[in-house]
Amino acid sequence: MSLRNRNFLSTQDWSLEELEQVLESAARMKRREHGKPLAGKSLAMLFFNPSLRTRSSFELGMVQLGGHAIALAPGRDAWPMEARPGVVMDGEAEEHIQEAANVLSRYFDAIAVRSFPKFQDWNEDKQDRVLRAFVRWASRPVLNMETIVHPCQELALMLAIREKLGEPAKKNFLLTWTWHPKGLNTAVANSAALISSRFGMNLTILRPPGYDLDPMFMDQVRENVRSSGARLTVTDQIESAYAGADFVYAKSWGNLNYYGNWEEERKIREPLRHFIVDETKMARTNNAYFSHCLPMRRNVKVTDAVADGPRSLLYVEAENRLHVQKALLAEILG
Ligand code: CP
Repeated sequence: MSLRNRNFLSTQDWSLEELEQVLESAARMKRREHGKPLAGKSLAMLFFNPSLRTRSSFELGMVQLGGHAIALAPGRDAWPMEARPGVVMDGEAEEHIQEAANVLSRYFDAIAVRSFPKFQDWNEDKQDRVLRAFVRWASRPVLNMETIVHPCQELALMLAIREKLGEPAKKNFLLTWTWHPKGLNTAVANSAALISSRFGMNLTILRPPGYDLDPMFMDQVRENVRSSGARLTVTDQIESAYAGADFVYAKSWGNLNYYGNWEEERKIREPLRHFIVDETKMARTNNAYFSHCLPMRRNVKVTDAVADGPRSLLYVEAENRLHVQKALLAEILG
């Protein structure tokens, strides 16, 4: 089916068949079965936040498919931007996304956006205003490079799962919260829950009390589980959560009840370092694979022994970012 000119904002917006099509295309990309389907095509990449993998893999992917990509960091090498409609722009922003999106649409064939939450007010951040403003004003397809979800990471993870476990349905996927010195974005946790449940995996979310994901995403996860006939467990019991897991995925995220008030949250978070992924916990699993989206603090989120062990897929998943994004770009622009 044609995915031409589609936005890619959340995997939930695409059908399972469409996601399958991208994953199959990504597998071909990984085998280097591609020519230059994007010759003459261009991608603008707007990075409101830092990146190693996303920036490298999108730019390289465009080049390998014959196209061209330009990265812009608003506030550094592009003007600071305003996303809200109708505001009096007498603050930091020099340019409204209305102009930026319209202009970039006249230069480029697609626009990709990374814009993390501001971490002051979750009800404001969950509106995803920057990404939505680009969608509103661009006349080209828009791709999400991580905002409040990270759909490209989801596809890279699912490609790795399928490569190692085969058919994902009914396999046991453990998403475990891990300690981190800061309250982090929930995007990757939301995404891991969405994609594993979407493909019919039995999902266990292990998190300390109070660290629940937003109902906006959990409702989608429950719908995914209902549609696929899989199982959803949300628990704070570490030993039972690891028991029988086929895949362990680690991520830290902030407590939404203390959003923007991380100093207060720190008192709750501090005693939770024992959520680290280690060899003892992994020994309870069904010889599970381990992965993390990266960047990852060693010996804080996961021990070196697990990160560097034979079941670690850190680099497989990171490499898959390149292949799934090439597949997406080829399907949307080719
Ligand atoms: N996983 C991921 O998106 O990595 P970067 O933040 O380095 O792009």
